[in-house]
Amino acid sequence: MSQDVAAFDHWIRQEFVEINSALERLYMQQSDPANVVGIGDELKARLEAEGRTLIKALLDEGNTDEGFDAAFDLLGNVGLYMAACRRHEITEPSRETSSPLLEASALAMHIGASIGVTPRFATAHLTTHNRAVNGLYKRFTDLDDEKLFVDYNTKGILAYKRAADALLKIQPLGISHPMTAELLEVALVALQQVIASNQTLFERLDTQAFFNSVRPYYKPYRVGQQVYRGANAGDFAGINVIDLQLGLCFANESAYSQLLVDKFLYMMPEDQRILRDCMRRTSLMDDFLAAIEMRDQPWYQENLAQFLRVCEAHGQGAIQHHDQLVEKYIAQPAKQMESQHIDKVTASGPPLPVLLGALEKLRDRRAAAKRDDIRTRFDDIARLRASLEG
Ligand code: HEM
Repeated sequence: MSQDVAAFDHWIRQEFVEINSALERLYMQQSDPANVVGIGDELKARLEAEGRTLIKALLDEGNTDEGFDAAFDLLGNVGLYMAACRRHEITEPSRETSSPLLEASALAMHIGASIGVTPRFATAHLTTHNRAVNGLYKRFTDLDDEKLFVDYNTKGILAYKRAADALLKIQPLGISHPMTAELLEVALVALQQVIASNQTLFERLDTQAFFNSVRPYYKPYRVGQQVYRGANAGDFAGINVIDLQLGLCFANESAYSQLLVDKFLYMMPEDQRILRDCMRRTSLMDDFLAAIEMRDQPWYQENLAQFLRVCEAHGQGAIQHHDQLVEKYIAQPAKQMESQHIDKVTASGPPLPVLLGALEKLRDRRAAAKRDDIRTRFDDIARLRASLEG
């Protein structure tokens, strides 16, 4: 790590967190905590200037080519700074046509383009690729609710990845292999862990603290001229690997493939490769449907029963995400928010009702719900269920 990289990393882990936390405490004291205009202007100026000086040194240093991990980590640090400037409205994408953070934009675009990811901070920077120093990983603030949110996002993502890994290992073995039941069991346990971890998050995360002081750091912001949507916990391949391997979603259906196309560059390159590969494969659901005349075989009965349990758990996780997490932490508080702030609620940019409608369809695909307007596996699951004995 060069001296300039180390100095910036140190600042991100210390002063950056102190300034953001102090600003959050000032916002919270207002009757309208969503307002940031005219509050803590000295702190904001300090944030912008200190970050700019450190980033300028890095930009002047040029490409130090210390490998992917170092470049990705530095992009994360620049991204955290840009996201914080957006949160405090030092920058505001609807006010500007190009980011006023010239040096940060240039550095982020240089790194992003050279390693094949979006030039902004992504979920991986805060969760699965966030190195802890003496027990502390990188955060925006020192608020307990932010830590809780990031901890449980990381837990959920890691568990989804375990489920996805197990499902991918079935591909070369086939649905009749004796080890397939065991791999389905690993996937089932991992999905149950997602559900348990989301339940804890749902019980412990404070709605107002999350909505007012955590979520705003995940808004879209401009890098150079382009606005990049906010980070969300879904920006890893595993969740879609599970959708596609189980066969609950279809890579050739435009609403779903649109989602995949949009998220590719928000994922780590290794995740991009996994997802691309998975999009070309057949699903386990289609394999079981094609084998339905083998229903008398013990392997069919055992493996299908386990497969259906995995589908059900994936559906439950999706229902929980939408009906509990999105409803409690986004939809409900948005209803109570002062109308002038409402257009800034989501991380992805579209108006909230549009986003909620898209997430609801995703929930129903994963849960194989009966719907006439979109393709779900309701009928296929019923057919497979009927082929089980007793
Ligand atoms: C996407 C809300 C926690 C998995 C989203 C989106 C919202 C949301 C609103 C749509 C993207 C956007 O904001 O523009 C929440 C809230 C959470 C939470 C309020 C907790 C307070 C989690 C956790 C996971 C998760 C713990 C587990 C890994 C996903 C996935 C997506 C997503 C996979 C992408 C869309 C999809 O494929 O379903 N979330 N989320 N979320 N979230 Fe969460």
